[in-house]
Amino acid sequence: MPLVTTKEMFKKAYHGGYAIGAFNVNNMEIIQGIADAAIEEHAPLILQVSKGARAYAKHVYLMKLIEAAIEDAEQNAGFALPVAVHLDHGDSFELCKSCIDGGFTSVMIDASSKSFEDNIALSKQVVDYAHDHGVVVEAELGTLAGVEDEVKVKSEDSSYTRPEDVEEFVTRTGVDSLAIAIGTSHGAYKFTAAQCTRDERGILVPPPLRFDILEEVAKRLPEFPIVLHGASSVPQEFVKIINENGGKMPDAIGIPEEQLRKAAKMAVCKINIDSDLRVAMTASIRQHFNDHPEHFDPRQYLGDGRTAIKKMVQHKIVDVLGCNNKA
Ligand code: G3H
Ligand code: 13P
Ligand code: ZN
Repeated sequence: MPLVTTKEMFKKAYHGGYAIGAFNVNNMEIIQGIADAAIEEHAPLILQVSKGARAYAKHVYLMKLIEAAIEDAEQNAGFALPVAVHLDHGDSFELCKSCIDGGFTSVMIDASSKSFEDNIALSKQVVDYAHDHGVVVEAELGTLAGVEDEVKVKSEDSSYTRPEDVEEFVTRTGVDSLAIAIGTSHGAYKFTAAQCTRDERGILVPPPLRFDILEEVAKRLPEFPIVLHGASSVPQEFVKIINENGGKMPDAIGIPEEQLRKAAKMAVCKINIDSDLRVAMTASIRQHFNDHPEHFDPRQYLGDGRTAIKKMVQHKIVDVLGCNNKA
């Protein structure tokens, strides 16, 4: 199966009450782990590439690896794996154009830090070029806190999406999906202790997502696919393994998975997950080094990393996104 856009995926997800996982990819083991999980669960897939990932691995390597994953699924599992390749957080027209010209089927133009009018103008410029080339576009309204590549947004500078802006934005730009800010945040340190409460065991509980904003946006944009960025849950069992095996990730905290499950049943059709893959892979490799100090063949520890990615993605597909058996 050739690469697909997200159009059909989102239509089915919207009406089916589930979301598609958009997983960030940077190398072969990550791509293989994610693809193996999607094949086993018969799940549609979005593989997304950030500007940083493209600089690290090179566009051509990532494209060929993704093509290889699709070919492998067909030949060895007899499964036509539907994959969209998406640019994550494109910050300029030139970057989006380069990815469109290079075969991506979806791009994000993230002009959310600009003024409303400038966000519209840049998003529309990308939409015009993308649609001429059969590529779909995601844009963002509202600002998430956290760290993405060189962009660092302090929580006091973040802002929720204003539902009253969304119709005008979508109509004037022609975008195919919209990322909104309802309280998620990028990275593995999404909230400070001061922003959280504590449960009876003293464990930090982050503030709940603003489902009221999501509901209002969905009301104003019927049948329109909404995207959630910064949606890793930073599972504490993996943070513990990292910290017990020489790592240092104090106070790492994410979005509770049950809240993401709830969002996936609503208008959210795409959920972005990167940090949880990083945490899973790092935990398994740190554990491997501690358990096998004599090992020095990268296939041994990277193989463990790949298996950890696969397990994490399977869990997300089945227990959080609900997109198993939807391909
Ligand atoms: O939201 C950003 C993603 O986690 C990508 O991170 O820019 O460090 O590749 P990166
Ligand atoms: P996390 O850092 O929560 O995994 O978010 C990833 C993301 O939004 C990529 O665009
Ligand atoms: Zn993001």
